This record gives sequence, C-alpha cells and structure tokens, in this order.
Amino acid sequence: MNRFLKIETFYRVFRDVSTSVHSGTRVKEVLDLVVKKTTEALSAKGALLRILNLETHQLELGASYGLSDRYLSKGPVSSEKMITDLYRLNKVIIIEDILTDSRVQYPQEAWQEGIRMMLDLPLTLGNHVVGILRIFFAEKRTFTEEELSFVVSIAEQSALAIDKARIIEAQQARYDQLAIQTEKLSALGRMAAAIAHEINNPLAGVLLYASNLVKKVPDKSQLKEGLEVIIRETVRCKSIIQELLEFSRDREPRKTLSNINSIIEKALRILENEFRLQHISIEKRLSDEIENTFLDENQIEQVFVNLLLNAIQAIEENGQIIIKSFLSPDRNRAVITIEDTGCGIPQQHLSKIFEPFFSTKKKGTGLGLAVSYGIIRNHGGNITVTSQCAQGTCFTIEIPILRKDSSKGANLYERRCTSYPDN
Ligand SMILES: Nc1ncnc2c1ncn2[C@@H]1O[C@H](COP(=O)(O)OP(=O)(O)O)[C@@H](O)[C@H]1O
Ligand SMILES: [Mg+2]
Repeated sequence: MNRFLKIETFYRVFRDVSTSVHSGTRVKEVLDLVVKKTTEALSAKGALLRILNLETHQLELGASYGLSDRYLSKGPVSSEKMITDLYRLNKVIIIEDILTDSRVQYPQEAWQEGIRMMLDLPLTLGNHVVGILRIFFAEKRTFTEEELSFVVSIAEQSALAIDKARIIEAQQARYDQLAIQTEKLSALGRMAAAIAHEINNPLAGVLLYASNLVKKVPDKSQLKEGLEVIIRETVRCKSIIQELLEFSRDREPRKTLSNINSIIEKALRILENEFRLQHISIEKRLSDEIENTFLDENQIEQVFVNLLLNAIQAIEENGQIIIKSFLSPDRNRAVITIEDTGCGIPQQHLSKIFEPFFSTKKKGTGLGLAVSYGIIRNHGGNITVTSQCAQGTCFTIEIPILRKDSSKGANLYERRCTSYPDN
C-alpha cells in the first residue's frame, strides 16, 4: 500500500471509530469496531482491548479480533506491572521479543498462536489508565510515524468510549435505584395512610373510655395503675399514628414571608429543657444576611425540631450541638447545618435513614427524617448528611429563598416529592 493510501485508510478508520463513540452506539460495538479496524489498517494478526476493573484491578477482556478462543481463554491479566509501565512511559510500547519480555504473561501460548511481535497502548483518561489496547503481529516489522500516531488516536477514542460507558452505567444504576425506592415509598405511603386512618378512630374510643374509667376507680388501686398504663400507651400509639398521617398526607405547604433564624430560635426554645437536663451545650451561628423568604413556618419548625431531637438522642448525655445558618455563595439559598457530637451513623445506615420506618431506637418510629425530607423537598430544597461513627453527625438543609409567594398557580416545588436523597 502506498503511503498516501495508508494515510487515507487511517483517516477513514479514525472517522468511523470517532463517529461511533459520539453516536448512541453501545460501547461493546465501539470496542469491537476498534479492534477489527485497527487490525485491518495495520495489516496485523489481531488486536485485543482490555478494560481495567476498578474493583479487582485486573485487566478484563473488552473486545478482541483475529485471536483464537484458546488464546483468549487465558483469563484476566494482572494490571499492576502493565499499567505502571504504560502510565510511566505514557506512550506506545513495542514488544519485539515476546518470549522474554515480562509484559507478556503467557509467552508460550502467544508463540503457538503465531504471534511474533506486539504493540501496547495505554488507554488514558486524565491521569488514569482505564485499559490497554494490544495489537499482535505475525512477524517483526518497523512502524512509521503515521502508523504510531494513528494507533495513539485510536487508543484515545477507545478511552473516551469506556469513559462514556461508565458514566451511562452509573447513571442507569442510580436511576434504577431511585425508581425502585420511589415506587416502594409511594406504596408504603398509601398503605400507611389507609392503616393510620382505620386505627385512629378505634384508638380515640379506647382513650375516651379508659379516661372516663380512670376517674371512677379508687386512687392507688391496681385497676387504676392498669388503666393509666392503657392511657399512656394509647397516647403513644396516637402520636405514632399522627406522625404517620402527617407523613402520608399530601399537605401543601402554607407559605408566609418568614425569617429562618426566628424559626431556628423557636425550635431551640421548644427543646430548652432537654438540652439542660442532658448537659448539651448549644452553639448558634446565625447569619443575619439571610433575607425573609416564603415558607411554611410550622413545617420548617417541625424539621428543625426533628433534627435537633435526633441530635439530642444521639448525644444522650454531655455533648454539643452547633447550629449554623448562612447564605449560599450564589445568595439564592439559605443553608442550615445542625452538627452534633453524638454516636454518629454507621456507613451502612446512611442510605436508609431517610426511609420511612427506619429506626435504630427502641422507641423510634423511623418517621422523623422521612417527614423532614418530604417537607424540605416540598419547599424545593434539599437535605443531606455526613457522619462519622463515635464522632458525630452533620445534617445540611438548603432552602431556596423565595422573594415572592409562588404558592399560587403552578409551582414546581410544591408537588409532593416521594424520592430519597441520593447519598
Ligand atoms: N443526629 C443523628 N445521629 C445519629 N443517628 C441519627 C441521627 N439522626 C438520625 N439518626 C439515625 O436515623 C434513624 C432515623 O431517624 P428518624 O427518622 O428521626 O427516626 P427515629 O428518630 O424515630 O429513629 C435513627 O433511628 C438513627 O439511627
Ligand atoms: Mg427522630
């Protein structure tokens, strides 16, 4: 093939590969195209593309062309040496003597396959090697500048294809997870609403009759004690049911122009006694830069109380809660952080704490965070958490600052949200 024809072939192959990377073609098809076209363009024996498995650190087969199944069945290749070399040199490595070069993991098998020479190319993204492209030749030969720069460009395109596939895969997994959770949550919500509704009335009856009876029995009698237990436990059931109804009800926020710092102060006052009794000090750093914003004061207060109560319960005795409010750098959101020195949340629980009914407490309902999450999302905001076991937890709430009441008419934020945060 004359030089001009060869350059034209390279150009065509590069264009085909590049087009397929940037179109909707599946990554496997792109990689199949890479190994086939590269083999043909270089009149090679075959080519093989291995992708680095980030968990096992092994180079796994992505695509191959022109090689026998027997040769390919050698399995994954340990990446350590191969990648370190490739990354260090960051260029094409020509393996002239396949029997003695340590980069060849199965030299005898390669020889039997009829391979006499190899080219290794790193597939890099930024500072990382994501795989390698190896091209096999049946006899020793030299390479022109054009040939080498062609294979380097093909390797770059392959790395892009792998990167794109990883992003799509991660997005798909996140989306699937969210879809399942959303479905579970809305089914739970419907069930909770139905059960809460059915139980609320009989409970009111039990409470009424027990309260009437307790007035009629003598003080300090066993019967009175028993009735008091019934009343106490029924009241507890009613409060759980109340939380459930609150959680499942599709209540629109009733927004008024409000001051977030005043709501924080109010929530802190409600829990004053608990802080004192459990020797918990409070540090407040509230920024007065935050403008008044339209929100449902009662709901937001409930969120702060829920989070502060959780912090108190996590600390138990002797500790500190730091509550901060400030404006986001773009000045469009109020940010509130509630940080405690409590027991922390184990890593494996972090993705569950916003789920309804998830609780690690003996008497917990597991609804506080689920309700809080729903409220904040209904205000167009977000709530996230970071935590370290035995050190403490920090919840961050972001609420958009609404300068006018948008609760009338279409409002993007006010649809009830039934998905979890993606932490
Ligand atoms: N500040 C915190 N520190 C440690 N764990 C927390 C904290 N906040 C929430 N959690 C964990 O999240 C779970 C769910 O909280 P929540 O929805 O309020 O339900 P409950 O308080 O009834 O258990 C808790 O049981 C606890 O395990
Ligand atoms: Mg709670």
